[in-house]
Parts: sequence; structure tokens; C-alpha cells
Amino acid sequence: MSEMIIRQARESDIDEITRLDQLCFSAPWSRESFRQEILENGLALYLVAELPQSGELVGYAGIWAILDEGHITNVAVHPEYRRRHIGEALVKVLMEEASASGIRLFTLEARISNEPALRLYRKFGFREAGIRKGYYEDNNEDALIMWAEATAPDGAEASEK
Ligand SMILES: CC(C)(COP(=O)(O)OP(=O)(O)OC[C@H]1O[C@@H](n2cnc3c(N)ncnc32)[C@H](O)[C@@H]1OP(=O)(O)O)[C@@H](O)C(=O)NCCC(=O)NCCS
Repeated sequence: MSEMIIRQARESDIDEITRLDQLCFSAPWSRESFRQEILENGLALYLVAELPQSGELVGYAGIWAILDEGHITNVAVHPEYRRRHIGEALVKVLMEEASASGIRLFTLEARISNEPALRLYRKFGFREAGIRKGYYEDNNEDALIMWAEATAPDGAEASEK
């Protein structure tokens, strides 16, 4: 997928991001949450993955930058476009952009059963640091808390299979 465009999310993307979120998560965020995140939250950065031919959005990812810590909020790829390294491209650019603006440590939560996400994050150096019991209200599932250090740009490439 070398021709995929990864760019910052804008107002006109909000509806499509909301639809993607509904396709990808059992407890999706509201359109209003995304509107606030993209237009009003000065600490947030959201990226989208766009197909160059059609302009269709097939993935998005977000991060909050708080002092020198980046909290990755969401990464999602349209079910029909998975396993094409789009999620990886989104996380890579997100971490590069955040590192360039001073983020030194990254954290996130992921469902303990979400093997695709856990494997993706481990490729970027994320390691389990704790568990939040019953964090996900829809099924009371535990969350794994993961942390990673920012790496130099040439070290940001995925290294672990
Ligand atoms: C997690 C998710 C974003 C991955 O997106 P993707 O574009 O399919 O992932 P990529 O193709 O970039 O995969 C990157 C790496 O992640 C791992 N991975 C991704 N999907 C995987 C799967 N189904 N099984 C095992 N490993 C997987 C692999 O290590 C993969 O590297 P490889 O292809 O070289 O083996 C996607 O599955 C998704 O949207 N899931 C639903 C939403 C979600 O759970 N988001 C995470 C919230 S914490």
C-alpha cells in the first residue's frame, strides 16, 4: 500500500471517521466526541489513512500530547483493508510527529484479548506495564496498559515479528 496517504484529520473527515469507528469498535465514540477531538482539543492529533484514487478513508489514529507523554487514544483500520500495514503506517507517522514535537514516552490501553492490536503495538516497542481491571464497560474486559519510549527516526521502523 505504498500509495496510501497519511495526513492530519480535518473537519470534513469527521463523519467518515465516526463511521469507521462504528465499524471497528464495539463501543464506538460519538460524532460529537470526534468533532471535539479534531476541532477543539488542542492537545490532540488525529491522522487518517486515505485512498488516493477515491479519497475514501480506510483508517485513523489519534494521540493526546500531555507534557512529554503521548497517550494513543485509538487506532482503527476498515475491516476490508486490514493486514496491509495501514495500521502500522498510522502508528509510525503518529509517533514520528509526536516525537518531533517533544513527546518522549508513549502509552495506551488495549483489550487484553486484542491480539492484532497488541502485536501491532509491540512492533513499535510497546511493552505491558500493568492491567486495568474491568476497564471496558461493554464486557468488563481488562485493559493492558502499555508504554514505549520514543525512538530516533531511523529506529522507528518496526523491528519485531
Ligand atoms: C489493530 C488494527 C488497527 C491493525 O490494523 P492493520 O492495518 O490490519 O494492521 P497492519 O497490517 O498494519 O499490521 C501490523 C502488524 O500488526 C500485527 N497484526 C495486525 N493484525 C493482526 C492479526 N489479525 N493477527 C496477528 N497480528 C496482527 C502484525 O504484527 C502486523 O505485522 P505483519 O503484517 O508484518 O505481521 C486493526 O486490526 C483494527 O482496526 N482493529 C479493530 C480496532 C482496534 O482494535 N484497534 C486497536 C485499539 S487498542
